[in-house]
Amino acid sequence: MPGKVTVVGAGFYGSTTAMRLAEYDIFDEVVLTDIVEGKAEGLALDMNQSRPVEGFETKVVGQTTGLDGSGYEAIAGSDIVVITAGLPRKPGMSRMDLIETNAKIVRQVAENVAKHAPNAVVIVVSNPLDEMTALTQIATGFPHNRVIGQAGMLDTARFSHFVAERLGKPIASVQTLTLGSHGDTMVPVPSRCTVDGQPLADLMPSAEIEELVVRTRNGGAEVVALLKTGSAYYAPSAAAARMAKAVAEDSGDVMPVCAWVDGEYGIEGVYLGVEAEIGREGVRKVVETDLTESELEGLKEAAEAVRAKQADVQDL
Ligand code: NAI
Ligand code: 2OP
Repeated sequence: MPGKVTVVGAGFYGSTTAMRLAEYDIFDEVVLTDIVEGKAEGLALDMNQSRPVEGFETKVVGQTTGLDGSGYEAIAGSDIVVITAGLPRKPGMSRMDLIETNAKIVRQVAENVAKHAPNAVVIVVSNPLDEMTALTQIATGFPHNRVIGQAGMLDTARFSHFVAERLGKPIASVQTLTLGSHGDTMVPVPSRCTVDGQPLADLMPSAEIEELVVRTRNGGAEVVALLKTGSAYYAPSAAAARMAKAVAEDSGDVMPVCAWVDGEYGIEGVYLGVEAEIGREGVRKVVETDLTESELEGLKEAAEAVRAKQADVQDL
């Protein structure tokens, strides 16, 4: 069982992810790093002091890192690295407004990850997600299967929550799926949605399904508008932590993630939200699902939209 996981960035997303990973109690060590002096160490100390209450043995290690790469020795030997470093958006901003600032941060982090944890599976969450995942693969030089982005788990969870809430059903009865980009070309997939095994289309008029599709697509912005500072982190951290757990346990779970697509769905060479089988090596394989014509068209549109932006990040 892999023993060490690192979370880079000890902001809201990173700290809640580190806490969830520690509470799983499957890792020997969770390393939390941040560029702000003392922030990661302080949060790690606080998390460790919750061990007697929550009853987990995993140790959390906090480490300040510098732009010169100092402090990165602490991540050596990590089996999994989750990259959360970067700015979150403010009300009115799109994820794409973060691209230049976050590209500099993510490139610096990725280069240090490649140097100190060359065998890790990397899970990227920094926004804009599809582009930062592509950039991380370029900057680490890791094989595509070892660099994955987190978006689909979150977007799918949001869709499921909205369906369960609207129908007054337990969350466990609801299955949904969201593919495509983590942005305007997100593709919620109603044809794959069921409640207690019944197709969603039999339970809700199509106009209402479309309303929930739109709400899912705007799920992140809805939280940002309410919070006014920063973006969501409870559902996002749950999503990233589950992906890390699937890698750690070599589970083979099929999850919606941002993965390298090369031929599946007739789409060539791009990081895109699809279902993939997750294991110790990251993505074992992309799993194609049956889509309606319009869903497939939406996925292809998403691929072209993110392809253009992913080409830009090489120079950022
Ligand atoms: P935050 O502002 O609370 O935390 C960001 C942290 O990154 C800060 O502690 C900051 O000091 C640190 N940081 C900045 N530069 C760094 C560097 N070079 N090295 C190490 N640490 C560095 O933001 P939050 O809420 O934690 O969000 C983090 C990122 O995750 C944002 O880009 C946000 O847009 C993204 N996000 C992605 C989601 C997804 O589904 N993929 C969902 C929610 C947020
Ligand atoms: C979210 O979807 C902002 O990407 C972030 O919550």
